[in-house]
Formats: sequence, C-alpha cells, structure tokens
Amino acid sequence: MDHRRLCRPSAFVYIALFFFSVFTLTSMACSNGNCQILESCSVATDCGPGLYCGNCPALSKTQPICTRGQATIPTSFIGGLPFNKYSWLVTHNSFSIVDAPPLPGVQRLTFYNQEDTVTNQLRNGVRGLMLDMYDFENDIWLCHSFRGQCFNFTAFQPAKNTLREVEAFLSQNPMEIVTIIIEDYVHTPKGLSKLFTSVGLDKYWFPVSKMPKKGEDWPLVNDMVQKNHRLLVFTSDSSKEAGEGIAYQWKYMVENEAGDPGVKQGSCPNRKESKSLNSKGASLFLMNYFPTYPVEDEACKEHSTPLAEMVGTCYKAAGNLMPNFLAVNFYMRSDGGGVFDVVDRLNGQTLCGCSTVTACQAGEPFGSCKNVAPPSSIPITNTAGSFSGNVQFTSSSSSVHSPNHLIFYFFSFPLMFF
Ligand SMILES: *[C@@H]1O[C@H](CO)[C@@H](O)[C@H](O)[C@H]1NC(C)=O
Repeated sequence: MDHRRLCRPSAFVYIALFFFSVFTLTSMACSNGNCQILESCSVATDCGPGLYCGNCPALSKTQPICTRGQATIPTSFIGGLPFNKYSWLVTHNSFSIVDAPPLPGVQRLTFYNQEDTVTNQLRNGVRGLMLDMYDFENDIWLCHSFRGQCFNFTAFQPAKNTLREVEAFLSQNPMEIVTIIIEDYVHTPKGLSKLFTSVGLDKYWFPVSKMPKKGEDWPLVNDMVQKNHRLLVFTSDSSKEAGEGIAYQWKYMVENEAGDPGVKQGSCPNRKESKSLNSKGASLFLMNYFPTYPVEDEACKEHSTPLAEMVGTCYKAAGNLMPNFLAVNFYMRSDGGGVFDVVDRLNGQTLCGCSTVTACQAGEPFGSCKNVAPPSSIPITNTAGSFSGNVQFTSSSSSVHSPNHLIFYFFSFPLMFF
C-alpha cells in the first residue's frame, strides 16, 4: 500500500517531465532567424528581421526572447499629412554610446545613453537625435559634460563624424526626414552653420523661415521630401536663429521636463524653457522619457507599462496632443514591443484612428482599420533599411557597463547631464 503511494507520484513526475521537455523543445524549435517576437531565443541571429534577442531581469524575465528592434516608418502607411501629425522615435544623447572609444590615454567619466551607432539607430527607424555640442580642440565635439565645457574625459568625438553618418543616411534614403536637437554650447562664430555645411547637410536644411511660429500645421511630409527639406535642426541657443538661421527650439516645440520628472507617473510638467505643454503656441511636442541616471538594465522595464501610462499623462497635460518626438535612453531595450509599440500606437491613433499604425489603410476614412493583431504579437516587417544590429541583451552584457552608478557620486552636477 505504501509502495503504491510512492509509485504514483513518480509516474506522474515522469509524465510531467516528458510533456515539459516536449514543450521546451517546441518552444525552442525556432532558430536561424525564424523566431518571432516574444519567442525564446538564445542568440540575436535566432530572431527574425528587425528583432533582437533580449531578456528583462528587471521584470523578472530572465529567459531571453525576441524583442522589437525597429520602428515602423509611419509615412509608409499614411503619407501626405503635415509633419506635426506624426510621432517619431528620438534617442536621448544619441552619441553617448556604450563602448565608444575614449580619447587616447584618457579614462572617460560620464553616463552612457545608447548602445549602437547613430547609423544603426537611423536604420532602426530612429528619426530624431539629441546631440550635445561643444567647442573643443579647435573644433566642435559631441561631449557629455557639465558647466558648458568639454573635457578630454567627457568627450566623445568631433560632431562632423556623426553628422556625416546623418548625411549618408539622408542621401541613401531620399524619403526620410531626420530631426536634430542640439544642446548648444558652441560659441565659435558661425561654428554650427560651417559645421553643417562642411559635411554636406546644408542641402537638406529645412529653412527657419518656413517653420510655423504660432502653432500652425507644418508643411506636408511629401512636400518636405520633394523640396529636399528633410533635415530639421533645433538649437537651445536663441541667438543662433537670427545669427545663423538655426531654429530656436522652444519657439517651435513644447517639451516636458527631462530626467526623473519626466518618468514620474501622474504628472508631466513642462521644461522651464518651454511654453506650457497645452499652450498650443507651438506645433511640435517633444516628450522626454528617461531617468536622470541611465541604467541599461532598467530600461526594458521603463519601456513597458510605465511608458504607455506616461504617454497618456503627457497627452492630457498637453491638451490632448500626441508627442511628435519620444526621447528615450537605450531605445532597443524592452520586454517585447517597447518604445516601438508605443510609437506605433501614437501614430495609429493620430493618423487613422486605429490602435496601431499598421492597421491604417491609406485612402480610407479615419477610423477604418485593418484587422491586424495589436502591437507586440505581430511579426515586424523590415521597413527601415537593412538591419545590422547585433546587440544581444543577455545578463552578461549588462554588468560590464555599470560605472554609470559610480559617476553619479563622482560628479555633483547631475542636472548638467541631460
Ligand atoms: C586631459 O586634459 C587635462 C587637462 O584638462 C590634461 O592635463 C591631460 O594631460 C589630458 N590628458 C590627455 C591624455 O590628453
């Protein structure tokens, strides 16, 4: 009798083990680029086009899955609307890239915000770059510094290198529009205009004179493409508009506060340089959504439910205006759809009244939606050029870059790190 009792559980265990291994084998069966979003993977090449292989220990999800790595380009679904109807993904400190080589013989001491090159960001559908520019070494450099001064230990590289990447992208992708938002510490006379001209970006320049100044609609995206006005540049230095024809950011854009206030649920205060979000006095809305101290491991968590909720909060704070630019750190990190799904939802709602942009049908009335699965469960089509990312977010890659925590204690000027 005792014998039988012991037997039954062990038989059950064997059966359970059998089914468990069948299940495991089935769920691991995809590989070689066949794995779809949310399916298990072990290396990035297991996942289909536009997907990365990553996990999210911050949400207790330790098993790597295929996660989205590319944005949908909204103009490929609904074209021909004013520029300010669209929402775009923006990388905060696009140049502050983990593993970017420091200056020879110098240990860099600063925060990092992104993980792949600007070229790769653009290929992945990022359409806005936030760049901090400084006078340095008789040139203009991208620097992640403080007190308006670049040091050899906060320097990244000459700005012209990154701007050449932008030029190459615009020339290879004649339908695409890119926005650059400069945190501007350049005092060299005509420094910025000479810089943009020297790398051939002047030919894509959207003229300040054509920018709407009182909250009116922007030109249509197809007109901008046709005229080759495909580069929007904004500076934080108001003197550059009259002096060099570079648009003063807060004349054209409202913006919520960057850093921790921008990720604090339930409120969406405006940045002090910006008009109030609901002023309707500027037609573009930049939503900052990144914590003051960037932590790679936390980004996947930040890019899940809290982001969707914060978008709702900021939408209301802006008087029912969808953000045109969503600026984030470590944009590829998510537990599935991440920032890409959020931007798809924004565009779906604004452009066609659907839950996601992929449900939009060109030429159909507002609100007539294709029957597509909601974001996160659809395979991603590669709409943004070839994919060349190889970032693989396993737990091993994360610990390498933790100096971010230490630097917080090293500098006492944290607010200068935006
Ligand atoms: C970095 O700059 C400091 C001055 O700020 C200088 O003393 C030092 O030699 C520089 N290091 C290198 C390797 O250039």
